[in-house]
Amino acid sequence: TALDGLHDAVCDWYAASSRPLPWRRPTTTAWHVLVSEVMLQQTPVDRVAPVYEEWIARWPTPRALAEVAPGEAVRAWGRLGYPRRALRLHASATAICERHDGEVPRDLEALRALPGVGEYTAAAVAVFAYGQRHAVLDTNVRRVLGRVLGGDALPAATMSVAERERARSALPADTATAARWSIGLMELGALVCTARAPACSVCPIRDGCRWHAAGRPAYDGPARRG
Ligand code: ADE
Repeated sequence: TALDGLHDAVCDWYAASSRPLPWRRPTTTAWHVLVSEVMLQQTPVDRVAPVYEEWIARWPTPRALAEVAPGEAVRAWGRLGYPRRALRLHASATAICERHDGEVPRDLEALRALPGVGEYTAAAVAVFAYGQRHAVLDTNVRRVLGRVLGGDALPAATMSVAERERARSALPADTATAARWSIGLMELGALVCTARAPACSVCPIRDGCRWHAAGRPAYDGPARRG
């Protein structure tokens, strides 16, 4: 089917063209994924990378972080901004020790119950750390899917039920492929299908893209930022 072709093209492109970011090593644990995703919520990749390296070297497990005072976590947060995230990660480490015997939970509901963990971050941990089959809908993924499947220049400010359902329906049936599809869409949105300067000429899924086929129409929804 057309979707199978999209899945293969995105997964092949990711294998060939993704960045070797520090949280994508084979040794990355679920705790590392959680730390990186919280840092990446509001801070760009380049600024996160060095602080992430320090954090996971210093506190390689939730238990290690839970054993220090919250102020230590804030100090190590450095200049990432929104330092309440450091306190929430510390509180998450404590909750993981108390409720989950020191193991980052696998279940979406249990993940969402952790401080600072919303729908996106819970799905990111479930998919990138545990290889589960869920849609991972960050801004980049929403924009790519909106263009390819919906023909829309940019996603709406808030996510609709229909948008969520469309993303779920587009997931590869195979669980391992679904995880690679999600990370591939995210990287494609970061490197090629950007908000302001999409590089359609080098896009691996241009031929299957509704927005490209329609001549890249401008955004026509309500006024929005970004
Ligand atoms: N890889 C996994 N999650 C990511 C994110 N939020 N930003 C950039 N790269 C990522």
